[in-house]
Amino acid sequence: MESLSAKIESLKKEIAATTVAGSEELEAFRIKYLGTKGLLKQIMGEMKNVPAEQKKEAGQLLNEFKTFVENHFEQMASGLNDADSSDVNQLDVTLPGNSFPLGTRHPISIIHNKIVAIFQRLGFSVAEGPEIEDDWHNFTALNLPENHPARDMQDTFYISQNPDWLLRTHTSSVQIREMMKKELPLRIICPGRVYRNETISARAHCFFNQVEGLYIAENVSFADLKQTLYFFVKEMFGNDVQVRFRPSYFPFTEPSAEMDISCLICKGEGCSVCKKTGWVEILGCGMVHPKVLDNCGIDSEKYTGFAFGMGIERITMLTYQVKDLRLFSENDVRFLRQFTSAV
Ligand code: DAH
Repeated sequence: MESLSAKIESLKKEIAATTVAGSEELEAFRIKYLGTKGLLKQIMGEMKNVPAEQKKEAGQLLNEFKTFVENHFEQMASGLNDADSSDVNQLDVTLPGNSFPLGTRHPISIIHNKIVAIFQRLGFSVAEGPEIEDDWHNFTALNLPENHPARDMQDTFYISQNPDWLLRTHTSSVQIREMMKKELPLRIICPGRVYRNETISARAHCFFNQVEGLYIAENVSFADLKQTLYFFVKEMFGNDVQVRFRPSYFPFTEPSAEMDISCLICKGEGCSVCKKTGWVEILGCGMVHPKVLDNCGIDSEKYTGFAFGMGIERITMLTYQVKDLRLFSENDVRFLRQFTSAV
């Protein structure tokens, strides 16, 4: 009896000092003390050696010990659960959440969409053509026969496998493709990428985007061209912008003109963007040359038409006051995420 109570006392001390760091250690504790072959069972087994008159007292001691071990087990188990749930309590709801950055449209796409939407309101539909063109669609049909000096205006990338193939230097080639379909009247705009063999700088690039416009029907006049472009400028830049036409030369139009708008930056006062003139050129245009109509099998006695072509980069630079053309193709997100648009 003496030895039994001494044993229990020392086990109690050992158990009271036991802690567990996880569910595996807790299970090991349970097996050691409370399991079917555990210490509690062993000590219970010693009851048979206790003299009969001491059995009652020994029984009480053992029951008390059993409750002690079980309590300690429960305590440690709930301590582990608390630790688990305290992970949840450690969630700091005041921290900023994970951000999922939304992309923004490229500024060229924004302006492209805006230009397209304006002309669609006037009844123009969108036509597209291939970026790899043949000489005939890009030059010859547009009244730039071989050795024509105007071919030098556009430094061309030729495709080495076939000297007749090239990267289109302008979207005017799409005019030809559409006119060849001979579905008249024809009222189209042709947006797309074009290529020129230019040294890359803040003002020039080897690829850029144009929007071509073409209207062919009976009795189309230069007045129709001017009204169409006036409408475009007002929609694009607002009512305060001034417009002027200057005579110019393009082989595929006669007469030809270039259109300037009053400088958006200095409002016509004169600044570095407009080279102190107060005006910036935004497009070339004219009446479709009868030879071009003939080349496409359209009766130039019956039909007339106007055409125009503008650079999307140029209009984007004016709209957002971007000073370097290279920014559009460098994909620097610090630049790109400044632009927002509804379209
Ligand atoms: N194709 C010309 C260029 O790339 C732009 C142009 C000028 C297009 C006059 C036209 C036009 O349709 O009439 O510089």
